[in-house]
Amino acid sequence: MKNRGLIDRYKHFLPVNDSTPIISMGEGNTPLVTSQSLYKDIGCKNLCFKLEGSNPTGSFKDRGMVFAVSKAIEEGKKRIICASTGNTSASAAAYGARYGLETFVFIPDGKIAMGKLSQAMIYGAKIISIKGNFDEALKAVISISEEFNIGLVNSLNPYRIEGQKTGSFEIVDEINDSPDYLFIPVGNAGNITAYWKGFKEYKNHNKIKKLPKMMGFQAAGAAPIVIGKPVKNPETIATAIRIGNPASWENAEKARDESGGTIGMVEDKEILSAYMKLSNEEGIFCEPSSAASLAGLMKLSKEGFDFRDKNIVCILTGNGLKDPATVKDNVVSEIFKVDSDMNKIRHKITSIMKE
Ligand code: F0G
Repeated sequence: MKNRGLIDRYKHFLPVNDSTPIISMGEGNTPLVTSQSLYKDIGCKNLCFKLEGSNPTGSFKDRGMVFAVSKAIEEGKKRIICASTGNTSASAAAYGARYGLETFVFIPDGKIAMGKLSQAMIYGAKIISIKGNFDEALKAVISISEEFNIGLVNSLNPYRIEGQKTGSFEIVDEINDSPDYLFIPVGNAGNITAYWKGFKEYKNHNKIKKLPKMMGFQAAGAAPIVIGKPVKNPETIATAIRIGNPASWENAEKARDESGGTIGMVEDKEILSAYMKLSNEEGIFCEPSSAASLAGLMKLSKEGFDFRDKNIVCILTGNGLKDPATVKDNVVSEIFKVDSDMNKIRHKITSIMKE
């Protein structure tokens, strides 16, 4: 059978009607990979990573974008617009290209990973670089979308949340239960809102008996929810979550409070450490922002949180290939240059080989 994507698969849980186009680029159905090594450091029963970087444009945004675009088409819209730290713009640009919608993306000047910018460029979006941060770009697109009747595809659009909640459905469908804890990075706070909605809906349909605790993590230099007020000049190496005034702030707090979870923050060096451990010990290359979920888990475990007997899922929101500069700037890896001469090559190999 053809893979018709997540709108088709979960249409009974989505506001789909006869005029909603069932469009897809094969989004969703991402791998849930069991930890081989890091679960031992954490001391939990089981740790899994959901690799959202396996979506068509390399991030979880495709789940929400496919549905937001489907609804934009249903509503007769010809244009879509978003503000983005990179991934939303890549996703909007891809679906916009595929379904013939003129796409406008607003990005914070100079603070977007090159891979993501290349995506918006190659898909042919109209790119507007704002001399300001994400929060300012979002304000601008809300106003422009209303003035010119352009479909807004940021997570303020409820169909984005609807599409993204399918991430929870997939976890439950795969493990036949909900995890005890769900660790997730928090930027504009749409994704934590969506996951919580998904789990609650599955519980209402008796697909699960218990709900997970929602454990959101922001970067310390961009942690408005943790400090309880907007951050004017957010700064972090994790540019995807460099956001000072999240649109879904209240819903993130609701997810935290209703689930008995937490929203915490991690320093850039903790993010980088989790980012490198994931690659070195698990073979998983995610982007720095994604590693905030694992960094949060590692932090709590170090502080003595008891995760024995617990099943934990970390959402790894985007693919590491989007941001090669972070590797170049932070990872020490020697590249050995050798002449194309078998004796020299043999000598080099034996000199660097482990005992
Ligand atoms: N991880 C990645 C890789 C992201 O791109 C984002 C958000 C998040 C986590 C946080 O998710 O905003 O739902 O809390 N990126 C947005 C963008 C802001 O424009 O691509 P959130």
